[in-house]
Amino acid sequence: MKIAILGNGGREHAIASKISKSPKLEKLYCIPGNAGTVSLAENVELDFYNFESLLQFLKENKIDLVIVGPEKPLVDGVVDFLLKENIKVFGPNKKVSQLEGSKIFTKKICEKYNIPTAQFGVFRTDTEAYSYLKNANMPIVVKADGLAAGKGVYICEDLESSNKAVQEIFNGKFGLAEQVLIEEFLQGDEMSYFVLSDGKTYKRFNTAQDHKRVGEGDIGKNTGGMGAYSPSGLINAELDKKIISKIVNPTFQAIKDMGENYKGFLYVGLMIKNNNPYLIEYNVRMGDPECQTILPLLANDLLDLILSCCDETLESQDILWERKKSICVVLCSNGYPDIYKKNVEIPNIENLKNNDSFFIYHAGTEKKDNKVYANGGRVLNFVSISDNFKSSRDIVIKEIENLDWDNGFYRRDIGYKIIDI
Ligand code: AMP
Ligand code: GLY
Repeated sequence: MKIAILGNGGREHAIASKISKSPKLEKLYCIPGNAGTVSLAENVELDFYNFESLLQFLKENKIDLVIVGPEKPLVDGVVDFLLKENIKVFGPNKKVSQLEGSKIFTKKICEKYNIPTAQFGVFRTDTEAYSYLKNANMPIVVKADGLAAGKGVYICEDLESSNKAVQEIFNGKFGLAEQVLIEEFLQGDEMSYFVLSDGKTYKRFNTAQDHKRVGEGDIGKNTGGMGAYSPSGLINAELDKKIISKIVNPTFQAIKDMGENYKGFLYVGLMIKNNNPYLIEYNVRMGDPECQTILPLLANDLLDLILSCCDETLESQDILWERKKSICVVLCSNGYPDIYKKNVEIPNIENLKNNDSFFIYHAGTEKKDNKVYANGGRVLNFVSISDNFKSSRDIVIKEIENLDWDNGFYRRDIGYKIIDI
């Protein structure tokens, strides 16, 4: 089969790497890909947000299947567009992608179907929001409704900062805002829980723990993710059952009641408190860096699983996992998540070699004249799987030290809550 993957992050490199192991694969394209995908696929410089030019490429190259990595093209309706053109595509359609595209859409489902989540209010004007905030308990969470590249969430400690958040949102910091979401601050531990769905049935995929803050000990600014591990230390049979019965089942029921179906990965972002799950958010894709830490544990042919979702035959598949512990540490450009240099060479990268238990997935990298350059904030994902988290992390850190890249930094404490030091 000829397959195209949309996206250029670590998630897409991890997907490409797994897909490239499938005997069904004939040729892989990454649009646009990165310096890591070059060795597995043909990178294609093309703006996939221009659906017409994407379609032209897919037709000219007789692509059999498109796998969509990031959320924005999904929320913009790339799946609906390609299906209309009879092109097989893996990912949810525009309507159900609102689960990520509109936080208020998801909150309304939670309300109607009794899904445990933070208490919330939706406000149409700044005045209404200010008057609510005057009597609210702090901390409180103020959210822009739409996609905001992970930046539309404000955790506010006091009235002044919460008012400022409302003001910034209504002033259009994240695009035109007709409403703002204000919700209760949930205490607990976060967990990323994934399911795979073919529209008729769904299956539990795996769990992971992301580390979003830039600094060790989970301090400092929020980032796209500094590292992750899988499986999550929080998961147990009872919690799993509650997540399915209280959150995932009612959500799929809601989708059915809308006359829709959901195909693709669903990322359930949870807060766990006293072994009870609360929904923080949905994402309509794999997580990044969760994908990089989860996929090396998958024992199935990923392409078979994806095709069974497209063909609505997921029921007949057993999803199998290696009983290992996986850790991903992200090497970032100095300065990230603020200002950082671009086009910085990573000289030793060719010296590091992947094997059965160690993987490097590129993110913000580009290959020019046979040299690899960093061009993003999150640059490389170092992943190791082994019998325990400590040895996985030791291997990863040793490899990052071997790379010895002056322009980068990373968190040495990924997984600190589950690794006894
Ligand atoms: P979101 O974009 O909704 O995932 O929010 C980004 C991050 O903000 C989450 O991963 C949480 O760490 C935090 N967050 C969002 N909503 C809440 C909440 N109601 N209570 C506590 N933390 C939250
Ligand atoms: N790891 C967070 C995300 O993918 O949104």
